[in-house]
Amino acid sequence: MTSLFPSFRYGGDYNPDQWDPSIWDDDVRLMQGASVTTATVGVFSWARLEPQPGQYDFAWLETVLDKLHAGGVRVILATATASPPAWMAKLHPETLPVDEHGTRLGFGSRQQYSPSSATYLEYALKLVRELATRFGKHPALEAWHTNNEYGCHISASYDDESVEAFRAWLEKRYGAVDELNRAWGTGFWSQRYFSFDEVDAPRQAPSFRNPTQLLDWRRFSSDAMLALHRAERAILDEITPGVPVTTNFMGFFANADYWTWAPYMDIISDDEYPDPADPVSHIHAAATRDLMRSLGGGKPWLLMEQSPSAVNWRDRNAAKAPGQHRAHSFQSVARGADGILHFQWRQSASGAEKFHAAMVPHGGENTRVHREVQALGREFAELSAGNVLGAAVPASVAIVFDWESWWALGQEATPTRVDYEQTVLEWYAALLRRGVTIDFAPAGADLSAYRAVIVPAQQVMSTGEADALAAYAENGGCLVVGYQSAVLDRDLHVHLGGYLGGAGSALQAALGVAIEEFAPLQAEVTTWLSGALAGSAGVWQEHVVVADAQTVATFDDGHAAGGAAVTRRATAAGGAAWYVATQPDETLFDALIRRVLRDAGVAAAFAHPEPGVETAVRGGTRFVINHTGEPRSVVAAGRDVELEPFGVAMFPAEGAE
Ligand code: GLA
Repeated sequence: MTSLFPSFRYGGDYNPDQWDPSIWDDDVRLMQGASVTTATVGVFSWARLEPQPGQYDFAWLETVLDKLHAGGVRVILATATASPPAWMAKLHPETLPVDEHGTRLGFGSRQQYSPSSATYLEYALKLVRELATRFGKHPALEAWHTNNEYGCHISASYDDESVEAFRAWLEKRYGAVDELNRAWGTGFWSQRYFSFDEVDAPRQAPSFRNPTQLLDWRRFSSDAMLALHRAERAILDEITPGVPVTTNFMGFFANADYWTWAPYMDIISDDEYPDPADPVSHIHAAATRDLMRSLGGGKPWLLMEQSPSAVNWRDRNAAKAPGQHRAHSFQSVARGADGILHFQWRQSASGAEKFHAAMVPHGGENTRVHREVQALGREFAELSAGNVLGAAVPASVAIVFDWESWWALGQEATPTRVDYEQTVLEWYAALLRRGVTIDFAPAGADLSAYRAVIVPAQQVMSTGEADALAAYAENGGCLVVGYQSAVLDRDLHVHLGGYLGGAGSALQAALGVAIEEFAPLQAEVTTWLSGALAGSAGVWQEHVVVADAQTVATFDDGHAAGGAAVTRRATAAGGAAWYVATQPDETLFDALIRRVLRDAGVAAAFAHPEPGVETAVRGGTRFVINHTGEPRSVVAAGRDVELEPFGVAMFPAEGAE
């Protein structure tokens, strides 16, 4: 594995254009004092860079870059296309996005452009070309940062141009309108189309909209945003070949299928804001870090943004406790980050984000937050000398994460409301509590390197993907499939005949089960499981037809009482195929995961579940991180570890001493 940078990157978004230039020298002095290596400059600077259409003012940016360079700070230069200036809204109101109710949104916030606006794109690409030409050889330039958080506020627009683009996208996908009719199942409710021109975006409608139309709209919208990034990067590649290009992802972001985006990033970057007041927010954060590493195929990634303390966009914005920010930062490093950046460098004095914490708070340098920022910068500078930078994070368990199943399960008409992200996270959390490192994998990936593969609620699964999972188990892998998997194909058509890929499928054979009828539970209703595995579960029950598997747990009550809840089939090659027809509670999950890990031959770092504490190994160092405000004693990989509140322990990993 090679590192992204020659040393750990540390710093944040730098918005000098919010300030009088007299402050810029002080910024550089403070950056040096905080061991800042990197500033992300110009993310929202379009109006300052192009005050009138086609009139560019880059002198101020050049001064800033020169000062940063003189101070030894490298620059991730933004293409500044995330927020078009006021003149664009005035001259070209058709660039403004339209919501699904048909309301055109106005200027005065940010990201007010339709992803399919040709006019927006034309101006954006001209700006990118000008910036790349002017600054492509600037010695401070380390990487390009296109746009900002594509889709954060506007991930789809229902304007006329977007509808035209949707039609073109559909025509490319289906070729003939009858193929669209087949895929969308338009025999239902008189929805048949006779030409692509008749197709509209799935706007607000009298009742349930066509499920495949909704799915295609999400696919299209993700693709439309990605096309913006790709268009910018094509220019950057042309003018500054070799300078890495990135954009900041938003973790488990519903509106962009990042598996399809990742190949167009030289660096996978992420923004993550765990709620300091939420005792389990580190779980979602850990999963997000693992997702970023997985998107890059295991390569190091960059934390582009986090807050050094409170944010300003929750109802209650907790400040981070002393040490908590350090714990969050080391969580990223332990899970593969080669750099830790923040939003933002200097806390704004005006505007909508003035109450969002920053590396230099309103109180200036002599503040707790800034002292912690300085201390962390020193630590990362020192860490650069070891083996962690650039190192891989080995994982022997994978969870399949599928955006299209997320989209399908989130639709209007479903068997019952299943929160896909939450379902996945509960599986993830059970593994995290045992100190097991997880990779995420896209549906259809080669999973042969993993000892265990977990497939929670992958409702949408092609026959090929289902066959591959079956083969994984038949070839000796430990496969664990959760309820609501392989119910639909990629057109959202039902796999008829006992689900799990349909009658006679290889997946039914591998698991040794079929599903006859769903019997979802009401909210807050639990069910009790008994047998070799006993405990409480929720969300789901169904009637499992066991053909060739051992029943590990049986439903004691409810509609499916007496039927199998958890099954296991031993495969010929020494593998196993588990089916879990319900959502275990935390205790039952822990018991289930213990068995699965034993089955798969995966050694857990924690002998017992350790809620609030996590561990991972990177570059021969074992990191153990306490996310609680209490001291904790744990045994990690056989070693006694004493942790302060929010403490981080680092020691040579077993086998690396
Ligand atoms: C996002 C944006 C930043 C800023 C932060 C605030 O991550 O990219 O510009 O608005 O949120 O948390």
